[in-house]
Amino acid sequence: MQKCNANSNILSVLSLLKDHTPEETEEQTAIPYRWCLVLPLADGGCLKTLLGDVRSRKLAFPLDFKDLIFKKLVKAVTFLHSHNLVHRDIKPENVLIDGNGELKLTDFGYALDLGEGGSVSDLAPAKINLGTVSYKSPELFNPRYSGAVAKDSDVFRKFDFRAVDVWALGLSYLVIHFMMKPWDEASAEDLYYKAYASLYKSEEVAKQYKKLVMNNAFEKSAAFKADKRKSFEIFCRIKSMDTKEVVIRMLDPIPSTRFTIKDVSRSKWLTQCVDDNKGLSDWVKKAARG
Ligand SMILES: Nc1ncnc2c1ncn2[C@@H]1O[C@H](COP(=O)(O)OP(=O)(O)OP(=O)(O)O)[C@@H](O)[C@H]1O
Ligand SMILES: [Mg+2]
Repeated sequence: MQKCNANSNILSVLSLLKDHTPEETEEQTAIPYRWCLVLPLADGGCLKTLLGDVRSRKLAFPLDFKDLIFKKLVKAVTFLHSHNLVHRDIKPENVLIDGNGELKLTDFGYALDLGEGGSVSDLAPAKINLGTVSYKSPELFNPRYSGAVAKDSDVFRKFDFRAVDVWALGLSYLVIHFMMKPWDEASAEDLYYKAYASLYKSEEVAKQYKKLVMNNAFEKSAAFKADKRKSFEIFCRIKSMDTKEVVIRMLDPIPSTRFTIKDVSRSKWLTQCVDDNKGLSDWVKKAARG
């Protein structure tokens, strides 16, 4: 946690305290204490509330500011992943706004330190499938998507939590821009997700995504036309092809071919995104004040 204090878009930890109230674990064995984090006050509410307020009050929300908010989250996650840390519960609700109008990723309740090897080997399946259901990536519902070999224990050992973060960040982009997600959950039970995944499925994903993006395949598909809820419409609403490509590749159902956070941060779109930090924090401060 100490390492995270160096990043301006991650909420710093002021102190770590031991609470000696005994806590019951899942196994019902009492442990002597639990850790408590002392955090600085971020009294501007969370990003999700800000997005809702902006919409209900019909405030102007420039596209550049939406992109910059996303870019800041990408920077925070790039920092985490470069230090072998994964968050595992990325969503606008877990981004707080401080008194300077700065956005701070927080809620490290499910975070893991992967260590030098970049993976964990001793997690029980119940400790893997954590996070917020609607932001969970498909491999959390079906571990075999992870592309690992057949034995169940190996599937879990090779789990790539960085890819899980990128997926949640891709959905966060859609929520920041359009206040909606294209499906309720990325599982075979969800018809909208199933339709999306079947469009995406290909042995040559790298070529396929271009076809999907360039030919507006989502929009032309039978699934899209039959989509009464217009869930896929959000993909059409992304005007820039560069942006659309990045978002769709962050939402690659196969974790091994999904964009990494480096791919996202080095994309033409984000490198060209204007860093008007002062403009954004002034706007956020005003909007958060209500
Ligand atoms: N440092 C802070 N400053 C101000 N408010 C905070 C701070 N930390 C947490 N909160 C408030 O508490 C809420 C929940 O915090 P957090 O996400 O860390 O905990 P949680 O147990 O995971 O809750 P949830 O399940 O709602 O995500 C935040 O959305 C925010 O409203
Ligand atoms: Mg939370």
